[in-house]
Amino acid sequence: MKNRLLFLGPPGAGKGTQAERLCGAHGMKHLSTGDLLRAEVAGGSELGQEAEAVMNRGELVSDALVLAIVESQMKALTTDGWLLDGFPRTVPQAEALEPLLQELQQPIQAVVLLELDDAVLIERLLARGRADDNEAVIRNRLEVYRDKTAPLISFYRDKGLLLSVPAQGTVEEITERIVNILG
Ligand code: AP5
Ligand code: MG
Repeated sequence: MKNRLLFLGPPGAGKGTQAERLCGAHGMKHLSTGDLLRAEVAGGSELGQEAEAVMNRGELVSDALVLAIVESQMKALTTDGWLLDGFPRTVPQAEALEPLLQELQQPIQAVVLLELDDAVLIERLLARGRADDNEAVIRNRLEVYRDKTAPLISFYRDKGLLLSVPAQGTVEEITERIVNILG
């Protein structure tokens, strides 16, 4: 199975849920920039303090900050294979990832796009109730996704890497679709 992967998709599409299952079963390293940032916030680091307010508004933290985190994590990898969840999130982040992966000689093998209707996304996130899961902030996250992240769909489609997966249904059904498409 392909094991150098990106997960792309709107907030609440199930990126984190599916990434954990896939990495658990296939041994890749799950790197979620959202989780890494929340760990910085919880630890009270300077970086976390800088990120917290931005995250609670549903805006994106700066490309430079996220890139620094990803670069140090990727360079420290000891596993064969990785799954980047929630990164890249802007075209500049995607462009900056390329020379890093070239240096590591680990090109992306597939970009999995999880697609789901807004109504279902909102329902899932409201049921979860993370600090940034209230209706106003969710709407802002969706807008930021369309504005800043959705351009990555054509960016990766043009490179022949994009695989779309419908993200409605049960967690198990979606995992099966992803595993099948990654063949
Ligand atoms: P991040 O943590 O990446 O959040 P997000 O993209 O908004 O997405 P979520 O994590 O909310 O959704 P998900 O797709 O992972 O779905 P999940 O599996 O959790 O980012 C948070 C913030 O950090 C950003 O707003 C930004 O500020 C900052 N940030 C992060 N990365 C950044 C970057 N690269 N650049 C700049 N800023 C960055 O599922 C959602 C819920 O649905 C869960 O409760 C789950 O249990 C449930 N669920 C999942 N699948 C199903 C199913 N099939 N049926 C029913 N319920 C389901
Ligand atoms: Mg997530």
